Amino acid sequence: MDGFSYKQGVLHAEEVNLDSLAEQLGTPLFVYSLSTLASHLQTMRDAFFLIDPLICFSVKSCSNVSILRFLVEHGAGLDVVSGGEIYRALLAGARPETIVFAGVGKSAEEVRYALEAGIYQFNVESEKELARIDAIAGQCGSRASVSIRINPDVADRDTPQKTSTGGCQTKFGIPVTRSARLFAEGLYSNVDVVGIHAHIGSPIHDSASYLACIDVIEALLDEVEQAGGTVDTINIGGGFPAIYEASHFDSISLQKMGSVISHRLQGLKARGLRFVIEPGRSISANAGVLLTHVEYIKDGWDRQIVIVDAGMNIILRPTLYGAQHAMWPIRYGRFNGHWTHATNASQPRPNGALSPVDVVGPICETGDFLALSRPLPTLSEQDTLAIFSAGAYAMSMASQYNSKVRPAEVVVMGEHYQVVRQRECYEDLVAREMDGIEPIKSDAKNLKLVK
Ligand code: LLP
Repeated sequence: MDGFSYKQGVLHAEEVNLDSLAEQLGTPLFVYSLSTLASHLQTMRDAFFLIDPLICFSVKSCSNVSILRFLVEHGAGLDVVSGGEIYRALLAGARPETIVFAGVGKSAEEVRYALEAGIYQFNVESEKELARIDAIAGQCGSRASVSIRINPDVADRDTPQKTSTGGCQTKFGIPVTRSARLFAEGLYSNVDVVGIHAHIGSPIHDSASYLACIDVIEALLDEVEQAGGTVDTINIGGGFPAIYEASHFDSISLQKMGSVISHRLQGLKARGLRFVIEPGRSISANAGVLLTHVEYIKDGWDRQIVIVDAGMNIILRPTLYGAQHAMWPIRYGRFNGHWTHATNASQPRPNGALSPVDVVGPICETGDFLALSRPLPTLSEQDTLAIFSAGAYAMSMASQYNSKVRPAEVVVMGEHYQVVRQRECYEDLVAREMDGIEPIKSDAKNLKLVK
């Protein structure tokens, strides 16, 4: 996959040998290819060039500050969903006027922080949130620019239910039938309602779902304009797909998807509208791999169980969504056209000698697996597996469950690498905890103080 290839039987990230890197830095380890991130950002730019959108990379997919800084320096704006993500975005050097802020539960503190930072737009998800932003903007003496996140009641049938956000049964957005009146002038003193936002889920594999959503957006736009309101921004969200399985190789073309969507939106561009897109995984997923070492291989009742050092604490997607991530040993690639085991290149294993195994993590839960019944070549306890497409929603969703430390993150460019997040240590696990209990009497006075 992009940026990652087997050279003389060993997986490399660009020109860096991942076998040596894993030995040097330990596992589990996330490795990202910077040139892949840059080229994916460029792919999005090319795919959508007809409408020249502001491309706001979705921070939640891959939130390492150094990686965000790299993308910002390559021209990305950022899509954030919390005060913490605004903090990361500013730290990464994003210009506030390139930041958009979504999320159904923005707290008063987060709204104030965003206003003080001077972000480009709030993507507002309820009438109550609009009233909150209006009041806080009044207190801060600022004005807020707002897109209404509509709930268009459009769902892509292939998007997992847990990440499908456009249907009428979900918590997201304001039902489109109630949205037009929010653009009426004079409703709010400190808020300019000037945009329409929709994000129907992720990943979305079919351009037809975007087109159905754009139909809804356009109908709303007409309604607003006929009523004398103004719209200057259309934000169609993210959800553009990444490659997870070999079968995706031929079916996914961001270029084609972007072009179909852009052609549909071109007419609106002629009406003077500005566009925003919020891609996450399409930029970051295939730019990262997770390296995980085989700790033990044991025979279960009827299957072989391969126990690796990364579990659901580090990559939650397989158990949470049933995601199928391609995986392969890092020392077992094609060499001179044959499948070889790099440590034993004199005895190439024949093609097809694969048997199904369960690849599981060390966490004490049955749901802690990376893959079930996955056909893999015969593995040993000397092997390290690469879990592909792990650049999005892996590290950013990792936890310390079972008091496991979170892994290091490394970026690679050409022959060079740099650790951009150190592996946590045991002290990190307890850094915010008190060692012992010394209760303070809870009375009304104390409670007030605490507030
Ligand atoms: N914009 C909004 C408002 C979003 O909520 C999201 C993702 C995106 C953009 C970016 O979507 P992307 O282009 O990355 O698909 N943890 C799940 C994905 C949750 C997506 C949440 N929102 C996963 O691992 O698949």
